[in-house]
Amino acid sequence: MPETARKILITSALPYANGSIHLGHLLEHIQTDIWSRFQTTRGNECYAVCADDAHGTPVMLKAQELGITPEEMVQKTQAEHQADLATFDVHYHNYHNTHSQENRELCSGIYESLKANGYISQRTISQLFDPEKQMFLPDRFVKGTCPKCDAPDQNGDNCDVCGATYIPTELKNPQSVISGATPVLKDSEHYFFDLPQFEDSLQAWLNGGNVQPEIANKLQEWFEQGLQQWDISRDAPYFGFEIPGAPNKFFYVWVDAPVGYLASFKNYCDKHNIDFDSYWKADSDAEVYHFIGKDITYFHCLFWPAVLEGAGYRKPTGVNVHGFVTVNGAKMSKSKGTFIKAQTYAEHLEPDYLRYYFASKLSDGVTDIDLNFEDFVQKVNSDLVGKVVNIASRCAGFISKKFEGTLRLPETLPPVLTEMQTASESIATAFESRQYSRAIREIMTLADKANQYIDNEAPWVTIKDPEKQAYTQEVCSVGINAFRILMTYLAPVLPTLLEKSEQFLNDSLTWNSAQTLLNNHQINKFKALLQRVEMDKVNAMIDASKEDLKAAQASAKPVSGPLADDPISDEITFDDFAKVDLRIAKIVKAEHVEKADKLLKLQLDIGGETRQVFAGIKSAYQPEDLEGKLTVMVANLAPRKMRFGMSEGMVLAAGPGGKDLWILEPHEGAQPGMRVK
Ligand code: 2FM
Ligand code: ZN
Repeated sequence: MPETARKILITSALPYANGSIHLGHLLEHIQTDIWSRFQTTRGNECYAVCADDAHGTPVMLKAQELGITPEEMVQKTQAEHQADLATFDVHYHNYHNTHSQENRELCSGIYESLKANGYISQRTISQLFDPEKQMFLPDRFVKGTCPKCDAPDQNGDNCDVCGATYIPTELKNPQSVISGATPVLKDSEHYFFDLPQFEDSLQAWLNGGNVQPEIANKLQEWFEQGLQQWDISRDAPYFGFEIPGAPNKFFYVWVDAPVGYLASFKNYCDKHNIDFDSYWKADSDAEVYHFIGKDITYFHCLFWPAVLEGAGYRKPTGVNVHGFVTVNGAKMSKSKGTFIKAQTYAEHLEPDYLRYYFASKLSDGVTDIDLNFEDFVQKVNSDLVGKVVNIASRCAGFISKKFEGTLRLPETLPPVLTEMQTASESIATAFESRQYSRAIREIMTLADKANQYIDNEAPWVTIKDPEKQAYTQEVCSVGINAFRILMTYLAPVLPTLLEKSEQFLNDSLTWNSAQTLLNNHQINKFKALLQRVEMDKVNAMIDASKEDLKAAQASAKPVSGPLADDPISDEITFDDFAKVDLRIAKIVKAEHVEKADKLLKLQLDIGGETRQVFAGIKSAYQPEDLEGKLTVMVANLAPRKMRFGMSEGMVLAAGPGGKDLWILEPHEGAQPGMRVK
């Protein structure tokens, strides 16, 4: 480690423990990982940590839905997330989860300090409460009619139709998304963090180069509106940490989630004898950077620095905000197969391709990054296979076959090599400032020059001339050295290609390797380093993502709502619709299902065949009211195993939900088993 080595801690936003890692997450983890690897190869002491975000209502409800404890779900999801990230060569020194002992202790300590320093107050507020589920409802779990434009079925805090924002108590006809019940207003005592006290220091921090200028500008809107007290408590039932001295009150997930950055690092420090405090004390000389998506700027650039300051910790050196991923110019879509999970991608394509593509598009700005598949295929094939790997494959064969694998450089080096070496600091500056696309452009310009050199020297011609053997060896040795310099610069982006290249070069590379050359050095036999990407594989991945959607739908709850993590609203084709086999069914038996809040178990006669179906209509019907009725069912839905037994179809019902839900009842002339046209 050089004497001037910087001490750096970096983090990515913590993925929620109730869903899979997808391309959107990967953009951020890859951005972070490239920066972390860059810092390490430059000789800095850099740690990268992450964790699963374990707490909150959605995680709690998803675990209930799966019939497991939240702790079990967190363990399982964390393992899956870690495996996915490892597949993409995203390396964290530590990957923890926020339901940890370290986090509990740090949260308590921070809260006690905030309280002692006069930043916590209490007051009673009135909130919507689900009388059936016996819980207060977070905004996203309430739906109703927009108070401004009367559009039905709008979210608890904003209207998709007219764009109004409001508080859930303003909604007309509010409804609990969880049970369908009409919420009631209920009082509860809450704990608040006094954000307004930090106005001046936040302004100084935001304008002190710690965030991108566009972020500092955007955040001014909050100051103009006036900073508000921040509600940091939630009532039981809640999966989280109980607030010390406040029974049945829990820290809001957004309190303990960023503390999870510290907790994950603490967990690592304790195991590796690293001085945690030297990174987090108020006058720390270490650097701390958070990489986040633009949607969570508010939490990281207002609450978080204020909480840290209020509790006596240092503030982040930088919060690096990136944009969202779009695919082929549009929002990722499940039905178009462009909502792609990390696992699905990796089953079809090399992780290095994606790392390279994202790097080639990432800048230090917050604009969205479009993954255009034609561009993706073209860029990977042209740059990585056609330019970089091509240099090695053009030269390696001659060196191995004719010169026993030995590199021998000319006495006078060609300018191309020195030019490649000189580019080191400019490329480093681009990586350091997160302008990866600029770094990639500079590296590819060098690759073009190296290829040009080989084209001009044409070793495949000179090799045939017995007089030019030594010359050919020199030209190919220059080529292999050029490849080595390129791989040194690309190392933070392409760890798998780097590993294979190091094996081939019989060398290990750090950033400064570019300033040395391999001469009189034995290389290993060249094996194909990277395959071309085929569009067929991309298409197969898109098809597989559509299958992922079908699998998710098959295991989804019968009555869906915004609990689904990504509402599916894309159109289906007529052919898709024509596949649905709708039949008249007679409900021969209906009964309650033990421990199920919403389901009734139905036996349906579809003309000579009886089907068992679990239907989410308990809020609207008593079982005895249903027996003998005719209804419409989807008869060719794949059977799915539910917690309570097999469900062999689906009955169709309409209505906003809750008590207002009607099964479709054909009357005139319908017979069980008839097809519905
Ligand atoms: O938005 C999210 O996905 C959150 N789970 C990110 C939390 S980042 C940090 F604060 F923990
Ligand atoms: Zn509206």
